[in-house]
Amino acid sequence: MGLQKGAKTMKVVVFNGSPRGRHSNTHEIVRQLLQGASEAAADTEEVFLIEHNISQCRGCFGCWGETPGACVIEDDMAGLLDQFLESDYAGLATPVYNMYMTGLLKNFTDRFLPLATPHIHKNADGSFYHEGRTKRFPRQFFVANSGFPGDHNFDLLAAFVQHIDPVLKIFRNCGEVLRETPPADSELASRLGEYRDALRSAGREMVVGGSVSQQTVQRLQMELLSDEEYMAGANEYWDGEIGRPDADSG
Ligand SMILES: Cc1cc2nc3c(=O)[nH]c(=O)nc-3n(C[C@H](O)[C@H](O)[C@H](O)COP(=O)(O)O)c2cc1C
Repeated sequence: MGLQKGAKTMKVVVFNGSPRGRHSNTHEIVRQLLQGASEAAADTEEVFLIEHNISQCRGCFGCWGETPGACVIEDDMAGLLDQFLESDYAGLATPVYNMYMTGLLKNFTDRFLPLATPHIHKNADGSFYHEGRTKRFPRQFFVANSGFPGDHNFDLLAAFVQHIDPVLKIFRNCGEVLRETPPADSELASRLGEYRDALRSAGREMVVGGSVSQQTVQRLQMELLSDEEYMAGANEYWDGEIGRPDADSG
């Protein structure tokens, strides 16, 4: 029996903001999450923003004045906003670029302005917000992966994510190992297998219960490689590609 919300199947859509699109580390995370959601009978889709025509917001506020609720720019964004609004769970996914999200995902989220009205409200905590134009808004989740080990590179994204109050947030460090295919009997292969399994659990739990258990959240934070192992591997790779700059400059 498929999991139903009333008569309607749950819809989970992820907007992937990596310029590498289908070849991205971000996709390696998203596809496992969506597989889990799909196992729980949700309809799933990953939208690769790089394959779409998305102009920058012009800051004209035409979507508030001239054409309320609709952007004056004619590109793919109106259709993508429909897809966002029609979903039950909408994920934003990005690699860390300069300690934040990619320009691609930032452009995309800037273009959400037609979903708000200009009217300003004050929250109980003293912060301000614009009223939404629509009552039905999907629950959101967030996925990021970083090229560095450690978690410092997620600080700015963690601040952003607070505002969208996501049902799940994934901050995956050591992201460049996600597309690796290590020997089947290696420690890394087994950890990647466990990590993918945790991602599928998260996708399933989100759809079935509307939340992700603390146990699964902890599994998603598992170490794939130690900082030293990751650094050594990355340095060895790049030294092999281009040589060490200080070794050549001598
Ligand atoms: C322009 C640029 C900026 C980057 N900035 C950061 C950064 O600030 N911190 C970090 O940990 N990784 C940074 N990276 C590395 C990416 O986050 C990393 O390679 C990631 O795994 C790419 O994911 P993707 O394959 O999904 O695009 C940067 C990469 C590029 C190309």
